[in-house]
Amino acid sequence: MKWKVDQRMLIILTGFMGVGKTTVGRILANKLGVPFVDMDYYIEARQGQTIAEIFDQIGESGFRLIEYQVLRELLEAEENGRMVISTGGGIVETTECRQLLVQQDQVFYLQDTFETSWQRINRGGLIQNDRPLVNANSKKQMAAKYERRIPLYEEASNYRLDVRRMAAHETAEVIRKMC
Ligand code: S3P
Repeated sequence: MKWKVDQRMLIILTGFMGVGKTTVGRILANKLGVPFVDMDYYIEARQGQTIAEIFDQIGESGFRLIEYQVLRELLEAEENGRMVISTGGGIVETTECRQLLVQQDQVFYLQDTFETSWQRINRGGLIQNDRPLVNANSKKQMAAKYERRIPLYEEASNYRLDVRRMAAHETAEVIRKMC
């Protein structure tokens, strides 16, 4: 196969917290030899604050606004045509973000069970969880959020991948073959 240097290779990963978007994204970008951007880390670097500090200071709605601006910036920058982006799990909460995502060709919704995600994000019930929504909500409330978001991820993505029982490197390989 002839590799086209100018070929667009923008892959976006969505899915609930703890599904493995960051790990899969990093492996995938490495395989493809393209840059990797994790939106949460990007936002923290841009704002000079942790996600928890941003939530503390300007609340979830303020964070969602920054998240939208960052997604727009990443998608608008011409040089970002070749890149893997892992999004924050709540990006689909914002209508404008969903509208941007549906315009892309390669948006993958990684789906695992709520229980698996919960085991990863609850981290044994740590008092200070770095995910503010886990601090602020009960397991039941998080499960409701997980359910409510399913149709939003489906709306915003081109492909849904059931990643139950799949290791991150296997998921990355499946996506690589699909691109
Ligand atoms: C959030 C998910 C987090 C982060 C923020 C809010 C959410 O990202 O953006 O804590 O609303 O689901 P991860 O999915 O990377 O944990």
